[in-house]
Amino acid sequence: MSPALNGSAEIHRWCRSFPGARAQISEARQFIAGYLGDRCEADTAQLVVSELATNAIRHTRSGLPGGRFGVTLHAGSTLLIVAVHDEGSPTTPHLREADDEDQSGRGLYLVETLSARWGVHGDHAGRTVWALIPFAPADRAV
Ligand SMILES: Nc1ncnc2c1ncn2[C@@H]1O[C@H](COP(=O)(O)OP(=O)(O)OP(=O)(O)O)[C@@H](O)[C@H]1O
Ligand SMILES: [Mg+2]
Repeated sequence: MSPALNGSAEIHRWCRSFPGARAQISEARQFIAGYLGDRCEADTAQLVVSELATNAIRHTRSGLPGGRFGVTLHAGSTLLIVAVHDEGSPTTPHLREADDEDQSGRGLYLVETLSARWGVHGDHAGRTVWALIPFAPADRAV
């Protein structure tokens, strides 16, 4: 647990780069959990990072041999931003029809449901997909 998240009004930012392999998704979840601990937003932030990191690996060059993705967690007094940086692809992140047969197409819908806002910046050479999660001051450690 970071001593930084102790109820102060400061903004904190942590970043880490991960190899673009599926086994690293749980590492990304643990990276988030390590800073948010047992706060109720920790579960939400972990679900979001899971979906975004999975997308980076499945849909971008981050998932190719030698590829990497990055995770940034911003923690302010009233919000969290979870961002995943990828190595780009010809496709763009978009909400799509869920496919009932293979159960796909739900990741970004889940992110949209769990976050106050989400968005994308960058281009085919590399994108950041971010999600904003309200962070109640009352939930912060004292
Ligand atoms: N980081 C990304 N870069 C480029 N395209 C992306 C990225 N993330 C998602 N996409 C595109 O957006 C589509 C929708 O993403 P979403 O996560 O909702 O569904 P999915 O990944 O296809 O399926 P699921 O998440 O349910 O397994 C993807 O099919 C892909 O075409
Ligand atoms: Mg997905």
